[in-house]
Amino acid sequence: MPERVLITGATGFVGSHVAQAFVEAGYEVRIGARASSDPRWISDLYAEHVPLDVSGDPENTSRAVRNVDTVVHAAGITRAKRAGDYYAVNAGGARRLAVAAFRAGVRRFVLVSSLAARGPDGRGHPASDYGWSKLEAERHLRSLDGRMETVVLRPAAVYGPRDTDLLPLFRLARAGWLPVPSGAAPLQPVYAEDVARAVLAAAREPAGFGPFPVAENRRYGWPDVVAGLRKVFRRPVRAVRLPAAAFVLAGRAAERSARPFSAVPLFDERRARDLALNAWTCDVSRTEKALGWGARVTLLEGLERTATWYRQAGWLSMKTR
Ligand SMILES: NC(=O)c1ccc[n+]([C@@H]2O[C@H](COP(=O)([O-])OP(=O)(O)OC[C@H]3O[C@@H](n4cnc5c(N)ncnc54)[C@H](OP(=O)(O)O)[C@@H]3O)[C@@H](O)[C@H]2O)c1
Repeated sequence: MPERVLITGATGFVGSHVAQAFVEAGYEVRIGARASSDPRWISDLYAEHVPLDVSGDPENTSRAVRNVDTVVHAAGITRAKRAGDYYAVNAGGARRLAVAAFRAGVRRFVLVSSLAARGPDGRGHPASDYGWSKLEAERHLRSLDGRMETVVLRPAAVYGPRDTDLLPLFRLARAGWLPVPSGAAPLQPVYAEDVARAVLAAAREPAGFGPFPVAENRRYGWPDVVAGLRKVFRRPVRAVRLPAAAFVLAGRAAERSARPFSAVPLFDERRARDLALNAWTCDVSRTEKALGWGARVTLLEGLERTATWYRQAGWLSMKTR
């Protein structure tokens, strides 16, 4: 009999790749999503759909975890109007789902956390409410460890098809220039399909709690990104070096200008700080060993694949100026 898995967050960027990986691996997949969710990335997947708002009706939560072997919790918010929303959804939602899963006799619970729960290099703690909320989610899960198998994955910055966060960067590069922070902080991102493979491995391998950082096993710098995008677009891309403070001001301004419309801005101060002030590297050797996993897609290949997808989706112009 195939293993049964409940996946949350499958209507989002990371979760849709995760759901696809589990369907392709032969799992019986149940997707728990809000009634308001847009299923465009997963409409072709063979999966059962059940209503689930992790901060909503507890009855739906109990029903969603019934009769599954594994829960993969990839739902979460990465931007919010109020700091409290991060804690309510990311921490509170994880706690409620994990408790329901434990009560329903689920064997393993895999939490898609974030490197933000560790914090930037050298900090020793999270640097944002988003990061603290993800750490709190991990702590809730830790309290159930021993009573249910629990695994925590901490992906670094994820990019790839369907991602809207890095789309503006591709568009600017396509137009011939890219604003880059003047500092030399290293980058260690991870391609979405590699994250999905890591989650699959976490569901299968007797890995232990972790937390396991998930990133490509190689560090890059902004010049590598610029060179990569030049190759992808086969045209010059000029790096425009800006002081970190300019990024932070731009993030703050985007947040302030969204406020009167009660909107959640795509770019905000947390993202600006993460991009321009903080370094986010990690040692993935423990993850590779415990999960028998390793990222396969290099930055250059990932940028190429992402740009191709953006073009095919009509998100990126094919025209040359
Ligand atoms: N993107 C990255 O670089 C990155 C890096 C590290 C970790 N992560 C983690 O990966 C996860 C997914 O992030 P993402 O970038 O894919 O974000 P995303 O595209 O915004 O997807 C978020 C998903 O969570 C769902 N969700 C949000 N609130 C929910 C609620 N109350 N109940 C049920 N579902 C809810 C969303 O459903 P709707 O469709 O209804 O909105 C969506 O499916 C998050 O936990 C994030 O912390 C992401």
